[in-house]
This record gives sequence, C-alpha cells and structure tokens, in this order.
Amino acid sequence: MRLRLEDEQATIALGAKLAARARPGDVLLLEGPLGAGKSTLARAFIRALAGDQRLTVPSPTFTLVQAYETPRGEVWHFDLWRLAGPEGLTELGWDEAEQKIVLVEWPERLGSLTPVDALRVTLSHDGSGREIELQGEQRWLDEL
Ligand SMILES: Nc1ncnc2c1ncn2[C@@H]1O[C@H](COP(=O)(O)OP(=O)(O)OP(=O)(O)O)[C@@H](O)[C@H]1O
Ligand SMILES: [Mg+2]
Repeated sequence: MRLRLEDEQATIALGAKLAARARPGDVLLLEGPLGAGKSTLARAFIRALAGDQRLTVPSPTFTLVQAYETPRGEVWHFDLWRLAGPEGLTELGWDEAEQKIVLVEWPERLGSLTPVDALRVTLSHDGSGREIELQGEQRWLDEL
C-alpha cells in the first residue's frame, strides 16, 4: 500500500496511527535514504505510545538502541546504521526484543535476522513531500 505524506505533520499523524495498532511482539522496519523521515515517524510513534507529545526521543545513531517504558508496553528503537555485524545485534539484546514493540531504522543490517512478519515501511523523497509504502499484515493497513 502506498501513501503520499504531504508534509512533516502527515508523517507524524501516520506514526501516531500506527502506534494505536501496535502491541508487544510487533516489529516495524523503517527503510529509506538519509533524510527520508524515518526518525520523524519513529518519534511520533513513540510519543503516541507514551501518551506524551513532549517526550524526548533522541536518534539512537550512537547508542544503536534506546528503550522506553510506556503504558502500552516497552518500546525499543534501534538505529543500525553503525552496526558492525550481526554479532553486535546479540550484544544489543536483539533476542529479548522479541517481547517488545520494536522500531528499526536501517533494517537492511538485520540480514537473516529480519523478522518475516514485520511491518515494512519504506519512505522516499517525492518533491517537497514524501512517498511511503507499507507492506505487512492487514491490521496495519486498514483505514490509513
Ligand atoms: N512528509 C514529509 N514531507 C516533508 N518533509 C518531511 C516529511 N516527513 C519528515 N520530513 C522532514 O524530513 C527531515 C528528515 O527527517 P528525519 O530526520 O526523520 O529523516 P531520517 O530518515 O531519520 O534521516 P537519517 O537517515 O539521516 O537519520 C526532517 O526535517 C523532517 O521534518
Ligand atoms: Mg534518522
């Protein structure tokens, strides 16, 4: 399924909508080039789950993973841009992430560990806005 996100607010609104459908055990893979809007979507998703629009959500570029306690369960936000190899993923606690709500920027780095049932979100630049493609279970896609 494809959508056009006219401006940053549209990306934020989509992040909040997806958050309303998320539950522990879900994985969202956020793909797209530098500046596509992955972190904007992730931040809106986490803030909606936390029920706090002012929650600080730093990019986990250097820490690689950032965890949040929310009323809807724990959320783990990965940014794997700097991940050296799959061994590094185990050190980050990837095995435990199975029971969390998980967001992954640069999911290409997961290789064979990519969950098959994840929601795949692909963002691309489209003039001044963004084009987004979503592939996954129907419950994510209904009425977006
Ligand atoms: N739908 C949209 N239309 C126009 N601009 C947008 C849209 N969504 C997000 N942006 C803007 O795009 C810029 C980059 O967003 P963001 O930092 O989320 O990208 P990113 O994919 O995480 O990039 P990086 O890979 O460099 O971390 C931000 O300034 C954000 O406001
Ligand atoms: Mg980012």
